[in-house]
Amino acid sequence: MTSTIKIGFLGFGTVGTGTVEVLTENKDLLTERVNAVLEVEKILVKNKTKSRTTQLNQNFISDKLTDDPEEILRNQDIQIVVEVMGTEEPALSYMKKAIKAGKHVVTANKEVIAKHGEDLTSLAKNNGVNFLYEASVAGGVPVIRPLKACLAGNTVKEISGILNGTTNYILTEMEEKEAEFNEALKKAQELGYAESDPTDDVEGFDAVRKLAIMTSMATNSTVLPEDIYTEGISGVTKEDLQFLGDHGYKIKLLGQTKINGTEVESRVAPTFLPCDNPLSSVSGVYNSILIKGEPVGYLTFTGEGAGKEATSSAVLSDIIEAARNGKHSNNFNGWSKNNFYKILDKEETSSLFYLRLVSSNPSQTEQEQKVNKSEIQNLLNHHGIELQQLDKKSSSNGKQELFIITELAKEQNVQNAISDLQDKSVELINIIRGDNSNGGR
Ligand SMILES: NC(=O)c1ccc[n+]([C@@H]2O[C@H](COP(=O)([O-])OP(=O)(O)OC[C@H]3O[C@@H](n4cnc5c(N)ncnc54)[C@H](OP(=O)(O)O)[C@@H]3O)[C@@H](O)[C@H]2O)c1
Repeated sequence: MTSTIKIGFLGFGTVGTGTVEVLTENKDLLTERVNAVLEVEKILVKNKTKSRTTQLNQNFISDKLTDDPEEILRNQDIQIVVEVMGTEEPALSYMKKAIKAGKHVVTANKEVIAKHGEDLTSLAKNNGVNFLYEASVAGGVPVIRPLKACLAGNTVKEISGILNGTTNYILTEMEEKEAEFNEALKKAQELGYAESDPTDDVEGFDAVRKLAIMTSMATNSTVLPEDIYTEGISGVTKEDLQFLGDHGYKIKLLGQTKINGTEVESRVAPTFLPCDNPLSSVSGVYNSILIKGEPVGYLTFTGEGAGKEATSSAVLSDIIEAARNGKHSNNFNGWSKNNFYKILDKEETSSLFYLRLVSSNPSQTEQEQKVNKSEIQNLLNHHGIELQQLDKKSSSNGKQELFIITELAKEQNVQNAISDLQDKSVELINIIRGDNSNGGR
């Protein structure tokens, strides 16, 4: 006789509803694949009386909904708990309680994983249960399982990814429609791609959580979001996109980690990358992650990084893994406090740089304000910075601006040069770093 595995859901919003719908619609297929019936036993919500848009039977829903977490956490029949509530608390406490009660836990919560991945995976190991989090990075794009299983025999050397669909949509819109950042953000909000408070997405906080999770897994150590230099896209202008576009580059919000022995270079920042980099052609709300492993070489994973359908696919893959593992725990702990990697300071790293400069001395006449190309070139050379491009352009307010692309240069040297330029009343309007990896080429 086929056995039944009972599942408790913590949360029934976008991801929870999508996952329960597929569990119901694909019941026969899943029973065959798992060799057990997967049955939703209870679903925790905040507000039981809220109206819910779903094709699920309303009687089924009202029978399953509860606003008491203990109905799931203390229910001895429930073997798998799926946490899709979001935010740190009470999600973290509920997950710990479920693990201690001997239940497998599946979660999509990148905020909790990025901060507490080490504690939760250790707790799961000590309690002999599975703790799975495929949906916490890049929604429907499978990348956690490949890192944990398919690439387990590799040394990961590089991870480079478009990890946030909202910012990728905004940058694509700015590039294709020659729109300013605020116009593109407004459109993203109208289409439901950006929250009314878009800070987490546009300032890179969402992307850095995902990069911290992957970097921890790639190094078997604990890398926290606050260890990683993070810069958002709100300072990118259409002039930056145009100039770099004219010279064969695209700007993407990239999360990049490069691992060299025990040294790690990691950052989330708007980054210009050549058009032949596979990540350059990823547009709109898509996510894409490029991983370089040894011996495998470069691999690219691309798909929808958010949304009901895509994310439920990742959550389901974890439910299936937990159900198939049954009483066997998943022994691999992606995190460890014991392995030591040095995360390099930004100043210790090197990149290509794009610099946009303007003369800022208000006492100068317009003629005097014209920035002197050769003087600036000499100053940059003096700091060991060689140039690929140096162009003069008039801005809309009549001022002359210098647009520069450097060869590979040390961050510290560039910062010193910027400081010397300021002493000569030349202001930095913008600085964008170039692709730090070999980009699959
Ligand atoms: N949405 C995506 O595309 C996506 C993609 C990848 C990962 N994720 C992650 O998946 C998780 C869920 O996201 P979501 O978009 O599905 O969230 P959501 O639509 O806001 O749904 C949250 C659900 O949790 C319930 N809930 C929240 N706080 C609660 C509390 N204190 N007690 C009881 N129930 C509570 C809510 O109840 P009510 O229904 O009563 O309000 C709701 O059902 C988050 O960690 C998110 O980062 C989401």
